[in-house]
Amino acid sequence: QPVVCTTVAQLREEIAARVAAGAATVGLLPTMGALHHGHLEIARRTRAENDLAVVSVFVNPLQFGPGEDFESYPRQLAQDVAALAAEGVDLVFAPPVEEMYPGGAPVVSVTSGTAGAVLEGATRPGHFDGALTVVNKLFTIMAPGPRIPFRAYFGEKDAQQLLLMQRMVRDFDHRVEIRPVPIVRSERGLALSSRNQYLSAEQAEHALVLHRTLVALAAGELTLEQARERVAAEPEVRLDYLVTVDPQDLELVDPAPGALALVAAWVGPTRLIDNMRI
Ligand code: PAJ
Repeated sequence: QPVVCTTVAQLREEIAARVAAGAATVGLLPTMGALHHGHLEIARRTRAENDLAVVSVFVNPLQFGPGEDFESYPRQLAQDVAALAAEGVDLVFAPPVEEMYPGGAPVVSVTSGTAGAVLEGATRPGHFDGALTVVNKLFTIMAPGPRIPFRAYFGEKDAQQLLLMQRMVRDFDHRVEIRPVPIVRSERGLALSSRNQYLSAEQAEHALVLHRTLVALAAGELTLEQARERVAAEPEVRLDYLVTVDPQDLELVDPAPGALALVAAWVGPTRLIDNMRI
């Protein structure tokens, strides 16, 4: 069973004790809980590649906008801890909101600039500032010291988030190595997401158009315009964006080999994202 820490002090003590007892590497998987097989796949890697495997479970209010699903976001800590126990995770960090933000929202926080204002950031203002701010705190809380390699695992499903985390590590000189993990999909291709729980059976069927279209676009069977039309034509699906970008800086580029195709769409009221390399 993992030890569940609910305070910063407790987590720091646990990490210090385990490093003192011989743990030579530390891995962190930050999550908002409601863990699915995608998360657990990353947890498995975190476990396999580090002496000490830590998973944080925190629904971070800072990264939700007004009218988004902060209140209704699925919370199921007992179930999550049981799943992480099965993967052999050592520590779970599950702080209450007051522990991470005593006295309310922080005065000093991370801003993501122009790279955080496009794509996901255009539709979700402040989202990346919130995600970066909480992960910045996690890196600071957990940093195990100069002789202990520290790795943090992020899914490629959230491509813009991954890129911004890499930027933050560079810009703030965090002593952590970001390790990207490929997208984990259902058998039929839907990128796994905690928000898939919101989909009805029919909506889950309609949502498959995202992956199907990315595959066709990546295979060169569709132009970008045709791909957009195909997504928009699916019942219950409303396209937000479908673009191809340079994966280094998210600048728009033509759909040529090496480009990254990014899609975001609402399926009913649920916003889903997916991506694929061309
Ligand atoms: P969350 O949505 O819980 O995702 C946690 C991590 O799991 C992220 O790095 C995400 O990219 C990865 N992930 C989710 N679904 C995946 C899939 N199908 N395949 C591969 N990786 C997947 O992302 C967040 O939480 C938050 O923004 C967080 C980083 C924890 C900051 O609050």
